[in-house]
Amino acid sequence: MTWHAHFIASQEEFDGAPLLRREFELEEGHGAVRSADLAVSALGIVEPYVNGEPVSQDLLTPGWTSYEWRIRVVHYDVADRLAQVNVLGLAIGNGWYRGRLGWTGARALYGNRIAGFAELTITFEDGAVQRIATDDTWTSGPSAVLANDLYDGQTIDARLRSDDWLRPGFSSAGWGAVDVLDETTDKLSESQAPRVSRQQEVAPQRMWTSPSGKTLVDFGQNLVGWVRVRVRGPVGSEVVIRHAEVLENEELGTRPLRSAHAEDRYILSGGDDVFEPTMTFHGFRYAEVIGWPGELGTDDITAVVVGSDLERIGTFSCSDPVLDRFHQNVVWGMRGNFLSVPTDCPQRDERLGWTGDIAAFGPTAAYLYDVDAFLKDWLLDVSLEQAHHEGIVPFVVPDAIKYFGIPPHHGDGAAPTALWSDAAAWVPWDLWEAYGDRDALATQFDSMVWHVRKVREALSATGLWDTGYQFGDWLDPDAPPEAPDKAKADPSVVATACGYRSALLVAKAAAILGKDAEHAEFEELADRMKAAFNEHYVNEGIVRSDSTTVYSLAIVFGLLDGDDLRVAGDRLAELAAQAGYRISTGFAGTPFIADALTVTGHLDDAYRLLMEHENPSWLYSVTMGATTVWERFDSMLPDGSINPGEMTSFNHYALGGVADWMHRTIGGISALEPGYSRILLAPRPGGGLTWASSSLQTPHGRVSVDWRIDASGMTVDVEVPDGATAVLRLPGADDRELTGGRRTESVPLAVIDGARG
Ligand code: BGC
Repeated sequence: MTWHAHFIASQEEFDGAPLLRREFELEEGHGAVRSADLAVSALGIVEPYVNGEPVSQDLLTPGWTSYEWRIRVVHYDVADRLAQVNVLGLAIGNGWYRGRLGWTGARALYGNRIAGFAELTITFEDGAVQRIATDDTWTSGPSAVLANDLYDGQTIDARLRSDDWLRPGFSSAGWGAVDVLDETTDKLSESQAPRVSRQQEVAPQRMWTSPSGKTLVDFGQNLVGWVRVRVRGPVGSEVVIRHAEVLENEELGTRPLRSAHAEDRYILSGGDDVFEPTMTFHGFRYAEVIGWPGELGTDDITAVVVGSDLERIGTFSCSDPVLDRFHQNVVWGMRGNFLSVPTDCPQRDERLGWTGDIAAFGPTAAYLYDVDAFLKDWLLDVSLEQAHHEGIVPFVVPDAIKYFGIPPHHGDGAAPTALWSDAAAWVPWDLWEAYGDRDALATQFDSMVWHVRKVREALSATGLWDTGYQFGDWLDPDAPPEAPDKAKADPSVVATACGYRSALLVAKAAAILGKDAEHAEFEELADRMKAAFNEHYVNEGIVRSDSTTVYSLAIVFGLLDGDDLRVAGDRLAELAAQAGYRISTGFAGTPFIADALTVTGHLDDAYRLLMEHENPSWLYSVTMGATTVWERFDSMLPDGSINPGEMTSFNHYALGGVADWMHRTIGGISALEPGYSRILLAPRPGGGLTWASSSLQTPHGRVSVDWRIDASGMTVDVEVPDGATAVLRLPGADDRELTGGRRTESVPLAVIDGARG
């Protein structure tokens, strides 16, 4: 596309959130306006206005991409908003472009000048076209936003607020010229990625004075967004809102935020003020309010949940309130970390697209929300960053940390990192399975192939991936708090297993896409890695480093056969029992351990692990009041203190990856064919649950399973979408073929007990 507009920047700095404006008249003599398309983008973030009103409710536009090569452009239909004389306005914030990113304190990683881009194309009744585009005819001026940063927060001075700049005839005293930047518009990329917007409002649950005299507010839910306040107080006085996910010693526990200040500051006008920062976001459940004039009331303050617009498609609920709450925590964790890019955490000085985290969480995400467009968009950046790093998929995408000298690999050898780099192969596969999205495989195929070839280069002569540093089974609960990579699982066993899975998935993708040569190439590689794994790491079913994660990966990824598989399954169950069903896996093993137990005939052990309440376990956090999934099983220690490790977020989705097992095994919904054209309905009760209820909006329609157990047995209501087929597999009963429609089936209790053996 050829653009007429350019990126334009305010010549003066204006404290970081400049306004850009252009007034124009509609050309006359062409009849009525037939259409008016406003294309908008920014180096930074942009809030566009037409004739005094925001153009949309979108936030943090155009979101974060690998700006070096790709900047999203978004379109709005503004035909209804135009008058004879019009004003187009853009408010520009730092966002990811010029704000802080990463833990070094660095900012402006992409560039020093934030800029706006707008091209308004008006088509009249007679076909004539009028264009208004950002160029040197625009002017720039200051705003009421005195500071804005995603990590640190926003400062707004209400005394400076005025909408006059958005009105025709505004006399722009104090306004200045703009510079047309050299930045090319070739990077502008049309995108289907979901926009970011306000998702929900949450009222305070409790407000009180802390022991040290601070005014604290509890919103009852760890969430991502910001606080909106309504306030009236002396002109020039200041109200400050600080944020934290947890309390410690009855005060805000801000240490886990590390260097992120997460503080919004408001200077009052003296009249009725409403403040809501839109150029930052925070991960928080609690707020501290400083400088409030008079007494803070519950109506004065509201939490606003912000995130990417994703359609909720999958549901799950069950009879156990603690497990049910855990599932809600998984959902909240996902909501907070699907904000423009899939992030590790939303609150501290990271909020980065850590690849390993989404590799662990992808299948769960794809069930809960329709993440097809969101992740496909992110995968474009995976390909771009990978190409920049000559085939190596970096730790984070967009790779901001390359700017502070962190290479896309650890140590000397330029090699990928297991689980993290494997996201390049696993995430497209997740989209294929969940949505039958062949395009995800086709678009990412070169990236998938390149990644696995890089893995092949990293193998030693044995065929094992045992070279270089690995994050391994990151955050194994038995690793010391300060050394999250010191896991029980041998990192080379983890790496070889993950690399094997990637090789296999790429071989399968090649077959689906009709790429015979690659199919043969990667099948051969997968065979070689499997043979090496068995030769070097498996001894009569015992896997090197004899820990839960290595068995989980070896079993679920299909590295073991025959007796070895049986022995490994038994050994895994034995280790789980020996640990008293406390969880003993980190990022790599946690998404897979329940499946590994289930497929090797240890369903009861999987349930015991899942239903455990003692630390460390999935449900321990719930018993400690968690409302999101934590980065570590024990981010908060049993005495209520915060884990001393540096990596202690209270909102990390990775360990919530077990929800995928819950959806398939408790809920009973899984895809037999990609995109659920053929569905397996196989709920497997256990763990003392008496009912579970699940549904999924598949590409073919809604599928649901509701089961309950009472004295007479198990009753199951199922719904299969028209156009799909299903296999109904109930405990102790023969498989039944189903077509579209609703059915109710029952299994007597004796049969279920018999099936459990
Ligand atoms: C992030 C993780 C990430 C890890 C890898 C952490 O700082 O929060 O989730 O995957 O680093 O080292």
